[in-house]
Amino acid sequence: MATEEIIAYYAETAGRAIRPDLVFATSLIESNKVAIDCGCGAGSDIAYLRKEGFIVYAFDIEEESIKICRERFKGDESIFLSQNSFSSFNYPQSALVVADASLFFCPKTEFEKVWNKIHDSLTTDGVFCGSFLGSKDTMAGPSYDKSAYWSNILTFEEEDLWSKLKEFEILKFTEHNVAGKTAQGLPHQWHIYSVVAKKSNEKVQRTVKKWC
Ligand SMILES: C[S@@+](CC[C@H](N)C(=O)[O-])C[C@H]1O[C@@H](n2cnc3c(N)ncnc32)[C@H](O)[C@@H]1O
Repeated sequence: MATEEIIAYYAETAGRAIRPDLVFATSLIESNKVAIDCGCGAGSDIAYLRKEGFIVYAFDIEEESIKICRERFKGDESIFLSQNSFSSFNYPQSALVVADASLFFCPKTEFEKVWNKIHDSLTTDGVFCGSFLGSKDTMAGPSYDKSAYWSNILTFEEEDLWSKLKEFEILKFTEHNVAGKTAQGLPHQWHIYSVVAKKSNEKVQRTVKKWC
């Protein structure tokens, strides 16, 4: 059962703006337009992917997320929704895997297996577009309320990420390390790495942008 905070979060983000990384990632895919949205929340990325002509497989661990998405996308037979965790989902072959602000909550002990599944589900030249939590984010500290939101928090150092991405060609790698306030007016340090990377056996290319 979703908490009040999670329900409020879904209401706030249902119509959120699409991140430029996803716009870029979708622009790279011209055929076999099949995408997976991991931890789809209220479905903003699903709506964008459909607009761009993708068949979308989307899952989330929260029943509430899937309920919202089923209602939102009722009648759309090119969207396949399921309540699953990163580990339990059966990843189909896809040209694009999206994981926006969701792998932040993957249990640490499961990440390696999940990351392999994501890698294996991508077709040759398939694209991963997602974000990872950095260790300086407020969510990685003691003030994060694990009883209100998702209790597992997984952070990465930049070097760990490069090593996880060694079988990908990095197209965009951006570190966001900025202080600000949440929608509720509370101070927050955002420390997020956002990545667009293409499955490849070629040498990894570094294109790093920093917002610090
Ligand atoms: C911060 S929200 C982001 C939602 C959506 N990707 C977006 O950007 O609007 C994180 C989502 O990850 C989901 N999530 C958390 N732990 C998960 C897990 N172990 N497996 C699958 N989804 C999970 C949550 O239920 C939530 O919907």
